[in-house]
Amino acid sequence: MRTYELIKRKRDGIELSRDDIGYMINGFVNGDIPDYQMAAFLMAIYFRGMSPRECIDLTMAMLQSGVKVDLSGIRGFKVDKHSTGGVGDTTTLVLAPLVAASGGIVAKMTGRELGHTGGTVDKLLSIPGMNVDMPEERFVQIVNHVHVGLIAQTATLAHADKQLYALRNATATIDSIPLIASSIMSKKLAGGSDGIVLDIKTGVGAFTQQYEDALKLARTMVDIGEGAGKKVVGLITGMEQPLGKAIGNAIEVQEAIDTLNGKGPADLVDLVAELGANMLLISGVVSSRDEGINLIKHNIETKRGLEKLGELIEAQGGDREVIENPGLLPQPRVKIEVESAGSGYVEKINALDVGVASKILGAGVKTKDDPIDRSTGIYLNKKVGDAVEKGESIAVLYSDGDKGRINTARTRLLNAYTLGPAQLDEPRLFYARISREGVEELK
Ligand code: URA
Ligand code: CA
Repeated sequence: MRTYELIKRKRDGIELSRDDIGYMINGFVNGDIPDYQMAAFLMAIYFRGMSPRECIDLTMAMLQSGVKVDLSGIRGFKVDKHSTGGVGDTTTLVLAPLVAASGGIVAKMTGRELGHTGGTVDKLLSIPGMNVDMPEERFVQIVNHVHVGLIAQTATLAHADKQLYALRNATATIDSIPLIASSIMSKKLAGGSDGIVLDIKTGVGAFTQQYEDALKLARTMVDIGEGAGKKVVGLITGMEQPLGKAIGNAIEVQEAIDTLNGKGPADLVDLVAELGANMLLISGVVSSRDEGINLIKHNIETKRGLEKLGELIEAQGGDREVIENPGLLPQPRVKIEVESAGSGYVEKINALDVGVASKILGAGVKTKDDPIDRSTGIYLNKKVGDAVEKGESIAVLYSDGDKGRINTARTRLLNAYTLGPAQLDEPRLFYARISREGVEELK
């Protein structure tokens, strides 16, 4: 009876108590509350939303449903970063070693792909020998030694989230701010870091396409994290076009290595510098954002970040040689140039379509048990603002040679590009910085 009553209360817009929310989450995880009742409850949340207090209580109930990672054996302030997901978002591979090389400590649990977005775990696994599953004690040792470690998030971490996400995915309740915020923050809090920088994407390639929604999501997540005693900063950043030029797995590792060699695409470098500066700031390593940005850029120039990536790869069992010789990464069977059908300037590149095209080529999981081909992906020769001649190559498909998939991906990719007569500015990358002090507009 209580389950029915609580669904009805939520449906009618009545605020639930901490006890009510705990009852629903625990009941669902224990199997006492069936999927159909939980689905109705989620839909009620979708339409009615949740108060800030309810969001915190939901997150805490989800957090308590699973194991937590004990990072207390790591010395110093541990900082994490989370992105709400984008296309070709190579950030973690560049950012984590740079922050460590700049004096921060990064113990990061990282996810697998979600929808059209890629997962850092799959990118890491394209490095020969790289291990992303290890006992907690080993992870603690690595981070104490190298100051950075990247491991796969396990299903037992915030256990409720895995089950809830699957149910949301089947019931059109993914895009609800309280549900996204509690899903992400329950996992981040379970991950055990002292500080978290959130990269909340807005634009066509993002979960929250509208700026207003991204802002609401950012505020909700900052409130949850600060409420749990962590230092949290949220940055709202643009995902109008894919980040950088590479989309895939091995190809993004290559892009990360290039970037740490000082040859990275400007948007990726700028995003890494801004995120890194905020991570160093909340860690107490620098005293201003500008100082942090300069330090990160300095450690790209001096190759200290690249050196750190090599140390990280070696510590986690991978072949460190890849940073000198990226040819050791999985290579595609064929590379196919995609030629432009017209001339003009690139006005838009729909990030969502590029993400889907990359998945079509094989860079994503097709069925649950199908292994991923980590060599496939897309390299964009042209980005917004670039001039294009008819017949010129706008992108390269990295493929296993399957003709059907190549043709479907080519069509999807060509459709992702919009050409126009006038040269536009690059799309905006930074929108706002949200902390417990409030919202600051970024230029
Ligand atoms: N990412 C998550 O981890 N959870 C969501 O609900 C949405 C994005
Ligand atoms: Ca990229």
